[in-house]
Amino acid sequence: MPWPRCWVGESPLFQRVAIIGLGLIGGSLGAAIRRSGLAGRVVGFDQRADDLALAVELGVADEVVPSVAAAAQGADLVILAVPVRANRAVLEALRPHLPADVLLTDVGSTKSSFVADVQAVFGDWPANVLPGHPIAGSERSGIRAANPDLFARHKTILTPGPANRSEDVERLSALWRGCGAQVLTMTVAHHDDVLAATSHLPHLIAFSLVDTLAGEDENMDIFRYAAGGFRDFTRIAASDPVMWHDIFLSNRDAVLRGIDHFTRDLDQLRTAIANGDGATLLRVFSRAKAARDHFSKMLSGQAYVTNNSDKQVTFQLQPGGSVHGDIRVPGDKSISHRSIMLGALADGITEVKGFLEGEDSLATLQAFRDMGVTIEGPDNGFVRIHGVGMHGLQAPRGPLYVGNSGTAMRLFAGLLAAQGFDAELTGDASLTKRPMARVADPLRAMGAVIDTAEGGRPPLRIRGGQPLTGIHYEMPMASAQVKSCLLLAGLYADGVTSVTEPAPTRDHTERMLAGFGYHVHRDGATASVSGGGSLTATAIDVPADISSAAFFLVAASIAPDSDLILRHVGMNPTRIGVINILRQMGASIEVLDEREIGGEPVADLRVRSAELHGIDIPEDQVPLAIDEFPVLFIAATCATGRTVLRGAEELRVKESDRIQVMADGLAALGVQTTVTPDGIIIDGGQTLGGGTIDSHGDHRIAMSFAVASLRATDAITVRDCANVATSFPGFVELAAGVGIHISAKGEA
Ligand code: S3P
Repeated sequence: MPWPRCWVGESPLFQRVAIIGLGLIGGSLGAAIRRSGLAGRVVGFDQRADDLALAVELGVADEVVPSVAAAAQGADLVILAVPVRANRAVLEALRPHLPADVLLTDVGSTKSSFVADVQAVFGDWPANVLPGHPIAGSERSGIRAANPDLFARHKTILTPGPANRSEDVERLSALWRGCGAQVLTMTVAHHDDVLAATSHLPHLIAFSLVDTLAGEDENMDIFRYAAGGFRDFTRIAASDPVMWHDIFLSNRDAVLRGIDHFTRDLDQLRTAIANGDGATLLRVFSRAKAARDHFSKMLSGQAYVTNNSDKQVTFQLQPGGSVHGDIRVPGDKSISHRSIMLGALADGITEVKGFLEGEDSLATLQAFRDMGVTIEGPDNGFVRIHGVGMHGLQAPRGPLYVGNSGTAMRLFAGLLAAQGFDAELTGDASLTKRPMARVADPLRAMGAVIDTAEGGRPPLRIRGGQPLTGIHYEMPMASAQVKSCLLLAGLYADGVTSVTEPAPTRDHTERMLAGFGYHVHRDGATASVSGGGSLTATAIDVPADISSAAFFLVAASIAPDSDLILRHVGMNPTRIGVINILRQMGASIEVLDEREIGGEPVADLRVRSAELHGIDIPEDQVPLAIDEFPVLFIAATCATGRTVLRGAEELRVKESDRIQVMADGLAALGVQTTVTPDGIIIDGGQTLGGGTIDSHGDHRIAMSFAVASLRATDAITVRDCANVATSFPGFVELAAGVGIHISAKGEA
């Protein structure tokens, strides 16, 4: 049955699209283009008469023609969808018939071979040839398997060359987007390397394994008893042999590199099994399991998988409500990062309870696996780290991707500056904008060799094998990340490394180093370490993150008739600015059952509704509440009188410019504020209306406006909330459970 046409726009993207080759991909593309009305007419050609005869009946073309020449006639887009080894012959047949202004593209899995064919036929790579490759397929083949949904939610890669015009790239991208695909561009060489690893090699292994087993004497039995694992793993061995034979011959070099790499690693596993080396097996399997579990999240620095900025999560909030309950928010992010880092470098096994399974700390965990550390878990916050000692890290195979996390990037910079291998640190779009010179400069003064992108931004390229020497550093800003970075580098440096801070900042690194048996000297505002020591594995109990608790401290304070208990909250004196500030504003927060666990103070908190009043926030509290200001601005809006914040310019270089983005968000709800270079003035008592907020991908902005809904007069929508998962997995459920009228829409 033909697919229905649904195009109702003014004029289609292309007038006449010719598809040469009506197999699975060509046929599906024809069907998708027709269904979405992206072309005036789709004309098909295939040398297999049987397929050609079915094309109109199956709805993949409006019309079929008897030759390549007839297909090209009058076309403004020609798509080659033949097996890649047939491209050259088809291009030769097409060449004399191509209209002057036609755009020519293909859908093959190997791009260098297509460009080589184009150059052989045309003498160069003409501007109107734009290679493409939809990363979609099925083990089924042929026109009968054609499916207009084949490309939906899949990537299509375009590999433009220097001659291609941007308007052509945009037009062809629009066609693919119209078929439901997400479009990426990359170079031909990069495409072929990426595909060799992620698609060609797995197909080769599947073909090979099934063939090996089929050749065994007892193959009938093997196949009879083969269960889900075999079926899942070998599904792609049923793919089209001709197409795959073409692909391997066309992408020879990249595939050979992949095979060599794989056989080396397989051999390593063989040796481990032969020698009864369980540690290697555990290391490889747990690293692989984690990579598989977090495939889309952890590899999101690489363009061919999803990343958070592609995910659209929107919070919908209904106004009003009060807050009740007895909850524990997830583990402290700063402590979770550090537990992995120090556990990995320690001698022995470190067990961590209460680890934050948020994307930031998981990125740190994955990065250490990438450097050869065996880490079991996380399993409900429990992690077991098999420490490799101060000098046991191995070179990662590629860049270390740390997602959204400034803490990971800056602390890693200190550690990696001292390793024997080169490393590159990359992150997501938000992290890529954040300043890294603040760590690169002092590390260079210690002898590190580090390249940054323009303006001291990520990625960071760190040269290994550089001897470091201790320095004394007077930090120009109050930053725990800079301090921690230098102390970690100092563990490896010759002599003493000392850091003086202009105001107290969180001291988790110092406390945890002490817990691992490494002496940190403290003299007023200066912390110092002597290089050359070692760390001894320990047990860590991560308290609930006061930065996550802060949303509920404000929520229960501003919502009428509220009474909430927050359990096991980290009460490190360098983190409790939010409690000090809220109490000064009149909040009712009781600290119950104060205790110390693993070197960090912890308490339960009871918070009840209160009439808040505005204050001049004492500047000494700013570093102690640095992550809590977005939600404190909501508290200030709900207070009576004026709140003034000064000395907080650091807020402008967090995951977003938190002063401006909060002011814009408040303005969208009808609240006027005065933004200053280093702070904000908020006159409380204004009506918080409803509206739509752009969180700029900043987790703490998104959660702050969720809290604001408790006192809003109308519904609030908060866009771009996927990054809430970086620090607070389960926020929506927990918030809804205590009485915030919140729901999330979109892919999480
Ligand atoms: C952190 C330090 C702070 C804080 C961040 C976590 C840490 O950053 O904002 O969320 O874990 O050391 P700065 O050091 O840049 O102030």
